[in-house]
This record gives sequence, structure tokens and C-alpha cells, in this order.
Amino acid sequence: MSLVLLGMLAAGLSPIFAATQDDVDTALSVAEFLRGARTVISANQARLNDPALGDKGLTGDAVVEGAAQAMLKATGNDPRKVDPGTEKGRLLAAMALAVKEVMDSNQRLINQKGTGFKGFVPAVFARLVTEQFRRDQSGRAEIKVTAPPELVRNRKASPDAFETDVIRAKFQSPGWAKGAFYSEATTVDGRPATRVLVPEYYGADCLVCHGMPKGEIDITGYPKEGASLGDLGGVVSITLFD
Ligand code: HEC
Repeated sequence: MSLVLLGMLAAGLSPIFAATQDDVDTALSVAEFLRGARTVISANQARLNDPALGDKGLTGDAVVEGAAQAMLKATGNDPRKVDPGTEKGRLLAAMALAVKEVMDSNQRLINQKGTGFKGFVPAVFARLVTEQFRRDQSGRAEIKVTAPPELVRNRKASPDAFETDVIRAKFQSPGWAKGAFYSEATTVDGRPATRVLVPEYYGADCLVCHGMPKGEIDITGYPKEGASLGDLGGVVSITLFD
């Protein structure tokens, strides 16, 4: 044990352990794939809401392919080229499978003719994917899109104590570099785990639902939060168990 660590323990401070670069890279890749998939839904929102259109062509395979392309465009990294034998490759494949499962099981809703808005928006899609991923992974890894407690719409997305703490002490502190992620090697319910949190900010297209006037009901039936352009809107939170 290092002297610094001994000193901290003696002083009653709990030390913060750095996550390994490999784990952080894996966690960020999984988050980027989810964001890529969400981009595909967002780019197709007008088509999804079109009551005149039947088959939208948004099959599981089509969205997985679109997500890979979106991730490549956003990060320069192609998830299709990651060695499937590595932990990163395994989790990317699991994420792709979750996306496919959610899209395939929602084809009837999505392709329904005569209904305009179907409630299939990026945030709902992302939540369904993260829930599917959690079931598939059965406790090996988790991903969740959460938000500052005062902004949470769906209680299932509520931040836990660790996430709330990072949101308050890091992402909402004036000195935090915009867009910078937070990572830590810690424990979750007593199990060693790497946690990586990525902040997300509201863009103009988000404010249609999350912006002003505060309290006005948006198209999805939720009251708008009254947020402004560039405010911290959410956090993609990834947990990798050792
Ligand atoms: C069409 C309206 C709409 C738009 C546009 C929209 N959202 Fe949302 N957002 C929602 C709804 C509805 C939920 C709740 C989804 C659910 O049931 O889990 C939500 C949930 C979220 C959540 C998860 C936490 C929570 O509150 O449950 C985050 C984070 C979020 N939105 C951020 C954004 C960001 C960032 C954008 C722009 C890129 C955006 N939203 C655009 C409607 C919208």
C-alpha cells in the first residue's frame, strides 16, 4: 500500500481509485454505440411519426448498421472492426444485439399505418435498449441514461447516489470541462466495478420537449423542464463489473 493511501486511510478519507484505460475505453465505446443507435432513431423521427407511411424499413439489422456508421462518423472508430474475442468486442456485440431485439420487437408499432406520433422517441428507444442489455448481460455490465434528479422524467432513469454525487460535484461544478467524462474504479453493492459517466447537453432539437415554457406539456405528454441550450441534460452511465 502506498504512503499516500495509508495517509488517506489514517485521515479517514476514502481513496479514489483510477479505472484502467482499457476499461474506460470499453465503457466509452459501449456508450458511443448506444448514442449512434439513438442518432438513427432521431434522424428517422419524421418518418416514424408519418401516419401515411407503413413499412419504415427500420429493422433491427438496419438500425444496428446505422448505429455502427454513426459511431464511426462521430468517433472515427468502427465497432464492426473490433476483435469479438475481446471484452470490448463482446460488449459491443451485446449492445448491437440489444438494439436489434428492441427494434425487431417493436416492428408492429413502428409500421402501423394511420397513427402519427407513436411515442417511439430516442429517449424511450434508448431506455428500452439499456433494459434489454441489462437482461442479456445478467449482472456483468450495465448501461443507463440518467439525468440530474430535478430533470428526471421516468423514475426508472433516476440517478443512484454515486451518479447524483458525480453530477453535483463534477458535471454541474463551474470548473468542469464541458463534455469531459468521469471514471472511477469502485464497488457497486460490494462488487468491484469500473464506472464511467458521460455528460450530455441539450441541443436546439432537445428543447422542443425539454425547453421553455417550463411546465407546458410536450408532444410526449410530459411537462417541459424549461431548460436552455447547452444545459446539462443527461448522463450516460456505464458500469463494468470485474
Ligand atoms: C419528442 C420529445 C423529446 C425530445 C425532442 C427529446 N426528449 Fe429527452 N425525453 C423525452 C421523454 C418522453 C423522455 C422519457 C423517456 C422514458 O420514458 O424513459 C425523455 C428522457 C430523457 C432523458 C432520460 C432521463 C429521464 O428524464 O427520464 C434524457 C437524459 C433526455 N431525455 C435528454 C434529451 C436530450 C439530450 C435530447 C436532445 C438530444 C432530448 N432528450 C430530446 C422526450 C424528448
